[in-house]
Formats: sequence, structure tokens, C-alpha cells
Amino acid sequence: MKLKHSLFTRRQFLNGLLGGWLGALLASFLYPVIKFVFPPTREPDQVILAFADFRDMKPNSVKNFLWGTKPGILKKQDDGSYLAFVGVCTHLDCNVSYLADQRKFFCACHDGWYDENGRNIGGPPPKPLRRLVISIEGEDLIIKREGEERVEDQ
Ligand code: FES
Repeated sequence: MKLKHSLFTRRQFLNGLLGGWLGALLASFLYPVIKFVFPPTREPDQVILAFADFRDMKPNSVKNFLWGTKPGILKKQDDGSYLAFVGVCTHLDCNVSYLADQRKFFCACHDGWYDENGRNIGGPPPKPLRRLVISIEGEDLIIKREGEERVEDQ
């Protein structure tokens, strides 16, 4: 059966199909670029880790954990206490690493330096590393946003 009237001409239908396909192709290229340029910045309020994984750390050593989409760093001090930081540089958000022999945190992006307590001591970082609050409840190591607290090893 042949329709007498159609809403679209064949040309309009093919143009719409081609336009939709080009739009989908463009969106599939732009979406990852936009996600890269504007990454989600949501941070967790807290993370709960198994304290058993960190109990045997040697003094003046660090272990990493995941703080949302960023690295977190847990450092065991010489006196047995712990400090926790967000492990990204306060200059332009590069990851920092701990150099135990020098007792300093180092950012390789622009030669930024922090002392063992996270204070900025050299290079472009404008602020100290962001501290996190630590508490130990039973077998859980709970790390929360902000603060200057220390927790003694049990
Ligand atoms: S991002 Fe760390 S010094 Fe620039």
C-alpha cells in the first residue's frame, strides 16, 4: 500500500538521519574532552580503611589510600603517630611523593617541596598539603576531611 501524503520528503528524512548521526559523533568526541577539562570534584566526607593494613608501617614511611578520585597519603611518624594528607600538590594538583631519605614530600611537576609535616618549603606550592583527620575505632581507620589531629598507635 502506498501512502498519499508523507510528513517528510525522502531528502528531509535523509538529511535528518545524517544530522542526527553527525550530532551523535560530535557528542561522542566532545564528552570525554569535557570530562577531562572539568573533572568531577566531589570529595568523600570520610573513608574507612582496615587499620590492620597500616598497623605494621615502619616509622618515617607512607602508604597511599584512595581519597575519592585523588590519592591520599598516610604517614607514620617517628613517635608512632599518624598524619594523613590529600596527596596532591597545592600548586596545580599534581601527585606528590614522599622521599623518606630526605624526609620531604616532592612534587615533580614544577619542583615543589614540602617538609615531612606537609608544610610547603620550596618551589611554587603556595600552601601546605591538605591535612585530613584520623581516628581509629576498633579495627577501622577512619579518615575525614580537614584538621590537624594526630593519632597514637594502639
Ligand atoms: S603542581 Fe606541584 S609544584 Fe606545580
